[in-house]
Formats: sequence, C-alpha cells, structure tokens
Amino acid sequence: MCGIVGYVGKNKAQDFLISGLKRLEYRGYDSAGIVTLDNDGKATLVRAKGKITNLEDKLKNNKKDDKIGIGHTRWATHGEPSEKNAHPHQVDKLFLVHNGIIENYKELKAELNEYDFKSDTDSEVLAALINSFYGDGKYPLTNAVVQALKLVKGTYGIAVVSELNPNEIVVARSGSPLVIGIGHDETLIASDASALLGHTKRAIYLNDGEVATVTANNIEIKTLNAEPVSAKVEKIETNLAAIQKGGYAHFLLKEIMEQPESLTETLRGRVNIEDGVVHLGGPGIPETELRRIKHIVIVGCGTAYHAGLLASYYIEQFTPEITVETVIASEYRYRQAYIPEDSVALIVSQSGETADTLACLREIKKRGVRTVGIVNAIGSTIAREVDGGTYVHVGPEISVASTKAFTSQVIAMVMFGLTIAQAKGVKNAIIRPYVTEISKLPEAIKEVLNEAEGTVRKIVKKYVSYDHGIYLGRDVAYPTAMEGALKLKEIAYVDANAYAFGELKHGPLALIDDRFFELALLPEGELYDKAVSNVQEVLARGGHIIAVTNVDKFDLSVESIIKINSEIKIFAPLLMNLVSQLFAYYMTVEKGYNVDQPRNLAKSVTVE
Ligand code: AGP
Ligand code: GLU
Repeated sequence: MCGIVGYVGKNKAQDFLISGLKRLEYRGYDSAGIVTLDNDGKATLVRAKGKITNLEDKLKNNKKDDKIGIGHTRWATHGEPSEKNAHPHQVDKLFLVHNGIIENYKELKAELNEYDFKSDTDSEVLAALINSFYGDGKYPLTNAVVQALKLVKGTYGIAVVSELNPNEIVVARSGSPLVIGIGHDETLIASDASALLGHTKRAIYLNDGEVATVTANNIEIKTLNAEPVSAKVEKIETNLAAIQKGGYAHFLLKEIMEQPESLTETLRGRVNIEDGVVHLGGPGIPETELRRIKHIVIVGCGTAYHAGLLASYYIEQFTPEITVETVIASEYRYRQAYIPEDSVALIVSQSGETADTLACLREIKKRGVRTVGIVNAIGSTIAREVDGGTYVHVGPEISVASTKAFTSQVIAMVMFGLTIAQAKGVKNAIIRPYVTEISKLPEAIKEVLNEAEGTVRKIVKKYVSYDHGIYLGRDVAYPTAMEGALKLKEIAYVDANAYAFGELKHGPLALIDDRFFELALLPEGELYDKAVSNVQEVLARGGHIIAVTNVDKFDLSVESIIKINSEIKIFAPLLMNLVSQLFAYYMTVEKGYNVDQPRNLAKSVTVE
C-alpha cells in the first residue's frame, strides 16, 4: 500500500530508488527494499526492516552502478514486518514489488504447490504466478505479467524486473496508483508523483487494467486485453518547496500553520464578495439539474468523513428541502442503502486513492448517481473517476495526520452547497453571510494560529499525563469535536472520543474522573447556553475542562480556557479546530512520539 519506485536509464539506479523511497516515507511503512541489475543481469537485492536509513546502512557495503532497478516501502497486510516479508520478492530470476492486496492469494498459492515460498506475503504468490508463465525467459515478461494478472483478484500496483532482460521494467496497476516519469534517456516509476520531482515534470498516470513495458527511451502501454493505449503525457504540478519542511520542526506544524495560504488556494477564483455568491466550475452540473437536487450523500473516511459531517450541518442551514447524509466509506460500500432520485454524491478524499472511498464511488456510479469529487491530489484515481469535481488545492499534505485538507474540504463542500442554494433561488440575504465569512476565513485563521499557538503549547503541559480525553460539542461543534479527538488519538496515542454534549447524560457522563480531561468546544450561538449547562454537569462531577470558546464574556470557572478572538461566527468551529490540531501536535511533541509518521498508520490507505 505504501510506495513503489523504479528506474531505468543512464544514471545509477540506486540513487533515484533511495531518494524516491525517502520522498514516499511520509506515507508510513514498516520495511523497505530495492533490487538493481547490472548489464549482465546480475541482481543485487537489499532489504531491511524499519526505516529507509536501515536500508541505506545496508547499502553502504553494496554500492552498485547498475542502471536499472525497482524499490518498495511496505505497509504490511499479510505477514509481519520483517526482512523476509519485505519487497522486492525474488522468484528464480524475477523480482517483484507490489502495493495492494491479492485477495485470492490462498487459492493461487495452493495451485503453485511446487514452489517453496519464503515469505508470508500475498505478493510473493503473485511473483511466483508471473514466474510460472515466464518459462525461464522463453516468453516476454510483459505477457507473463498479463497472464498472471488475469487470474488475480484484489488491488495492485506492481513493478517487475528479470535478470534475463536487464533493460526493461514491467509495471501494472489496478486500484493502486502508478506514475511513469519521462526523463532524458531515463524513465522513472513511482506510486506518487512527488518522488519524481527534481527529475522530470512529464508523467503518464497509468489507469486501472493497464500494463506498461518501460525502457530508458520507450514506454509501451496496453490493456490486459492487449489493446494498445495511447497515453496522455501530463505535467506534474507539485514543486519541491511544497514537499519540504521549510524551516518547521515537523511537516504537521508546517501544514497547520500554512492553512491561511492553503485555504486561499481553495477559494481562488471561486468567491465573488461583491455579489455575495460563489462560482464552482468543476462539478459541471447544469443549473436545471442543480435545481432538482433533493439529496446529497457525502462519502469519506477518517478526517474526510468528519469534514463531510461538518459540511452537512452547514448545507442544511441554507439549502431548503434537501437532505444531506454523510457516510463512512468502508461501511457504506457494503450497505444496501437506497439512494433516492435526484441525488448527488460528494466523494471526499485528500489522497484521492483511499480504497474504501474509491470502491464506494464505483458502486454509486453504477447506480447512475452523479458523483462530484472533493479531492486534493491532482490526477489521483478518484479525481479521474468522478463525473466532475472541485480540487481543494491545498498542496501536498505530507504528515499522516490530515489538517489543512480538512479545513479546505469543509469549505469546498459548503461552497458546493451554496452553488445548489444559488441555483434553487435561495435569497442572497441568506447566502451572503456565508460567502462573506468564507472570504474572511484565511485572515482569521492566520490571526487565531498566531494567538493560539503559544497558549496551547503551555496548556498542553498540564494534560500530558492524562490517559483519556473527551471532546465535546453541540451542532457544528460536534463533528469538529470528532475531528479533534481523532487527531489526538492518531498522533499522541491518547484515547480520545467525541460526544455530542446532549448525549453525555445518556452514558458517557459515567466516565468522568481524574483520568479524563474534557475539551469543550463552546461557540457563541443559539445552543451556547445549553452547552454551558452541559459543562456544568461535567464540572459538578469533578471534570477537568478545557474550554475553547469565542464568547467574549466567558465566565465559567474551568481549569483551562483557550479564547478565540475573531469576528468569524458561522465558521468559528473551523477556528476552534485549529486549537485541536495544535493541541494534538504539542501533546505529541511533549510525549516525544513521531509526529509525522504515527505508528501503525499510513498516509494513503489503498487497501480495504
Ligand atoms: C487523518 O488524519 C487520517 N490520517 C485519515 O483519517 C484520513 O483522513 C483518511 O484515511 C482518509 O484519507 P483520504 O482523505 O486521503 O481519503
Ligand atoms: N500485501 C503486500 C504485503 O503485505 C503489500 C503491502 C503494501 O502495499 O505495502 O506485503
């Protein structure tokens, strides 16, 4: 699921393979490996458990000038992280790296009973299967790969080389991304275009069901049914600065702090402040159809799901006669859910590669429902498969914990809702306040970040020893609380859950004791007084409340207060979420954990 790189050309393959793997490091992985071939086809295979630096250490005694090779960072799905399970997998003269899952590996393995498997992975089964069609080099490698893939169920991005032909790499994909970079007398392979930066800006994004045979000067692409594909060469939009830390201690802090700019990019050309309206070209839905929309289903995982949930609260506020349902992709894909007529589906994903979200998208499309992507990664699979979409344009998000994408996803979806409201003839007096606040948000975010950073940093110290956190909010502050709790558990490993304030008395109130702190989001508004009563209930039971509020005269006597000073009212929860992001960040720093690559997680979850 994590990273693939490949190189064939005039330069030393090891150099690109290692630098490419390092670029993909942020995705999270547990082991890595590379294989290179010299001119006579002799292979050098080096694999190591753990960090890329472990692999580099091993390579010190194995430096080669070989001009072709493939590499991999693994996020184990079948078999523990270990050297023997690390990729590339070797079967006779053939080497394979694989991202994804071969679902029918057990059946295939049973049929390959003559082969002595050395690892516990599903990937080695695929390597052996390809090898069984290769006939010791009697048949072209590409044909062997195609024949094997026709028998495979599951997801894959693969790269294969053979000692018998040290000039070509065969790559293929289904459900796991692969990009082919075109250089001068060199061709580069990566599962994410960021690995190619600094080498080339020209790339071909392979589609599902395609196989490419790649040499230093040639790329031949076919479908699994042997139909030739004339691939489109696209420009890689990301630049190097965008994937570097730029002076920050961690990518996460950089990404939190750059939200004023990233949100500005989301809004660029889409907000007309004078007229108080928004213009979203991407979804491409004709006005007549927008007017008919009665139901929106929003699909996502993790943070993208929370963004959808928060957006749904807003969309309901200003769009009449519409229902909005936000669903978790891994659940929805197997539900027998009815999608009414005149529905539109928003498919939310930072990476655009999340397997569960992608599967939902395909399922929903089959039912003839129009799909709109809310995606960050340009050219990603989801972005290419939706009927239309709005890129959030926040730039690469490197840290595993999603931050800047969340803020922009919420606003992009709200803007989509506003587009529907505009088409349905909702009065400008209703729409305008949203548009005005949206246009002011980047500046407000900047101010809040500047003010809150120091305060949060100090307050966190009081709570480092707590084992549990409860995040609380009502209405729009509730999905915001859910997102805050997710941030804390995923990077600081503190057990944190979110509850709607009103739900406390139905169960979670029983938890309150000295092991718990409670982070209460208290935005000004209709439900503020009710939320305050809920805080009182917690205080009465000895709770340790951290209040995050934008109410001027906040006079509750609680353990800690983080004040938000801003004229932003409607979107105040997004400002409060900045506090949650910083809180999780500083908690993690205090605990000394790996901020950008939390244990057990990966940035892009391309397995089910
Ligand atoms: C967020 O901090 C998480 N790491 C995770 O929940 C993430 O949002 C989720 O996996 C969805 O990813 P996507 O947006 O790339 O589809
Ligand atoms: N399923 C394979 C394994 O467990 C590949 C995992 C990955 O995508 O990194 O080795």
